[in-house]
Amino acid sequence: MSNTFATIPDDGTPLRVVVVGAGGMGRAWLHTVEESPLVELAGIVDLDLGAASAGAAAVGRPVPVGTGTARLAADVGAQAVINVTVPAAHHPVTTEALAAGLPVLGEKPVASTLAQGMSLAAAAELSGQLFMVSQSRRYNRQLFAAKRLASTIGNVGIVSADFFKAPRFGGFRDAMEHPLLLDMAIHQFDMARFLLDADPVSVFCEEYNPSWSWYRGDAGATAIFEMSGGERFVFTGSWCSPGLETSWNGAWRISGEHGSVIWDGDNEPEVETAVELLESDAGLESEDPGQEIAGALADFVSSLRTGAAPMGQVHQNIMSLAMVESAVLSASSGKRIMVDALLEESYAQCLTSERNPDVLQILRSWPTVRAALALEPSRMP
Ligand SMILES: NC(=O)c1ccc[n+]([C@@H]2O[C@H](COP(=O)([O-])OP(=O)(O)OC[C@H]3O[C@@H](n4cnc5c(N)ncnc54)[C@H](O)[C@@H]3O)[C@@H](O)[C@H]2O)c1
Repeated sequence: MSNTFATIPDDGTPLRVVVVGAGGMGRAWLHTVEESPLVELAGIVDLDLGAASAGAAAVGRPVPVGTGTARLAADVGAQAVINVTVPAAHHPVTTEALAAGLPVLGEKPVASTLAQGMSLAAAAELSGQLFMVSQSRRYNRQLFAAKRLASTIGNVGIVSADFFKAPRFGGFRDAMEHPLLLDMAIHQFDMARFLLDADPVSVFCEEYNPSWSWYRGDAGATAIFEMSGGERFVFTGSWCSPGLETSWNGAWRISGEHGSVIWDGDNEPEVETAVELLESDAGLESEDPGQEIAGALADFVSSLRTGAAPMGQVHQNIMSLAMVESAVLSASSGKRIMVDALLEESYAQCLTSERNPDVLQILRSWPTVRAALALEPSRMP
């Protein structure tokens, strides 16, 4: 069992990448890749060749295009793949790239299901290549500052995130069964894991659809998670709440033994304590992780250069999807869901559906799912 990965030492030239998926978010990635001195856009892949060509036209210079990831990557000598396809294609595209010996930076969610996410973690182990999920809202200097301030307020017991917006997307989100939980809440769930350095233990969630909602599925939800440090994380969100909307990051409160931190998601976080903060605690500058997908891209390249694990390495990211799936299951069953039970069920499903015998062998070698997913490079043999 290993999640160490092959590095690509810095020879002074940018990393040659192929972007797969030239839809709405693919365009954002193409722009970010073009802007970055760390990488060079070597090709664009899309099942729809017209979309790939339109992506190249938007870049404004000739870029090779194709419909097959491993094929185009080999043709253009790419060193890595950025997977910005729809969630259903995350598993096949990433599997193909890893098997071709290419590291992958993939859009969230890791895959359509937890079972597929586990298959990808094992495929990454098998290939010895890095597979990182870009959970872009982690890359935010203010979020890092909020986490640092939270370290000054004693034991943290409660974290809440409110998310109220009213976008008129049209298209697939309006017809989805769980539009808020499946398409948006993974960001706040993942941010809560980051803020607390904790994983989910259980969840109780209710979903509802306000009477005026323009979504077919439930556009509102409240979820109460118990986290591994005993903390509670409470998420309340709505995608049909015009007026006084929150930021896209949500509005946060972190409540601790000696004080509280609040962050509106767009401005500097604030702290107020019942005790005097040490000068050193209050004045410390926090790290700047870069901004959103540009930050994730820089983290990916830095990890490939140095071998240090990035924030979204597949094993560590899967628990964010576990929060989404357990919340959906709780809402549909009306029961509190124990995350371990869901992990075991998904693992069993993964063993049944895995078609690659070498990946299957790795999956079978996992002592427990939680132990396999918690694997840190520092604890590697
Ligand atoms: N981080 C964020 O804030 C954020 C925002 C929006 C979307 N996303 C994520 O980005 C991903 C893409 O979303 P989108 O809105 O761009 O979707 P989209 O439907 O606009 O585009 C997806 C593209 O992938 C292509 N595609 C599908 N299957 C493929 C395959 N097997 N091989 C090659 N190409 C394939 C489609 O033809 C399409 O052009 C999703 O995972 C989504 O969750 C993230």
